[in-house]
Amino acid sequence: MRDFDENNITQSVIERFANTPDPRLKTILNSLVTHLHDFIRDVDLTFDEWQTAIKFLTRTGQQCTDTRQEFILLSDTLGVSMLVDAVNHRQRNGATQTTVLGPFFVHEAPALPLGANIAVNAEGEPLYANGVIRSTNGKPLANATVDVWQCNKDGFYDVQLSPQLNLRASFKTDQQGRFYFWSILPTSYPIPYDGPVGDLLTATNRHPYRPAHLHFMISAPEHETLVTHVFVKGDQYLDSDAVFGVKNSLIEEFKQHAPGTAPDGKQMPHSWRSFTYDFSLKAEHENLDHHP
Ligand code: BEZ
Ligand code: FE
Repeated sequence: MRDFDENNITQSVIERFANTPDPRLKTILNSLVTHLHDFIRDVDLTFDEWQTAIKFLTRTGQQCTDTRQEFILLSDTLGVSMLVDAVNHRQRNGATQTTVLGPFFVHEAPALPLGANIAVNAEGEPLYANGVIRSTNGKPLANATVDVWQCNKDGFYDVQLSPQLNLRASFKTDQQGRFYFWSILPTSYPIPYDGPVGDLLTATNRHPYRPAHLHFMISAPEHETLVTHVFVKGDQYLDSDAVFGVKNSLIEEFKQHAPGTAPDGKQMPHSWRSFTYDFSLKAEHENLDHHP
């Protein structure tokens, strides 16, 4: 085949992939080529624009390090991460809704006992967080792993500031499936915007902010691991999250309390906050309820 033109080249490229042994790879490439070619015809992409895109993607790659993943940030800000999340979590059947993992999860979070304060030498309004982890059948999940991480009062995660881990922990639920810990109120914060993704946000008059939230990753045997957030009700960025991660069901009131006694008996000399959020994990096998 020769004489490719704007009408026949798409089919020709697809045919060139005809011998791809992996059928899923073939499906993905066929669709990718179809949409990419349609996009170029749709906008009549100029050589200058094509070159700008190549330079942008090159800079995106160059921005990546062991601790900075600019391609995921690009995916986040284009709504791709949340779309992948959505198509992979279509049937929640009562399970807690999911949202983006984000770049600040670490595997080595300190294992702390229930009731611990995860904010070490961190200023901020004290926050008491608690809730119950259940299976979607309502059964509390004892000994579930609850990983939590959040930013400080200035909007920075520990890993952005120093090698010292802070404002994160890994808990195990008690026999009633409960978790509870102390921390500080997180704030809204900008995603890293000093690279090409930040330039794209600037060029499009978009702000880089995420509404205040705590991250949770919750796992239990025979259940799907849940990656989600709890967002602070009333935050000014709930309707314009830079990464499209907000869901109504994940917004919770962080109640304001006057000085006094906290639920665990702790005497609070200053005002403090609390929220309660119960999570539901999806059983891996639908018939899990019927297992002995
Ligand atoms: C975060 O919530 O930590 C986050 C998510 C996506 C991009 C940047 C940060
Ligand atoms: Fe975050």
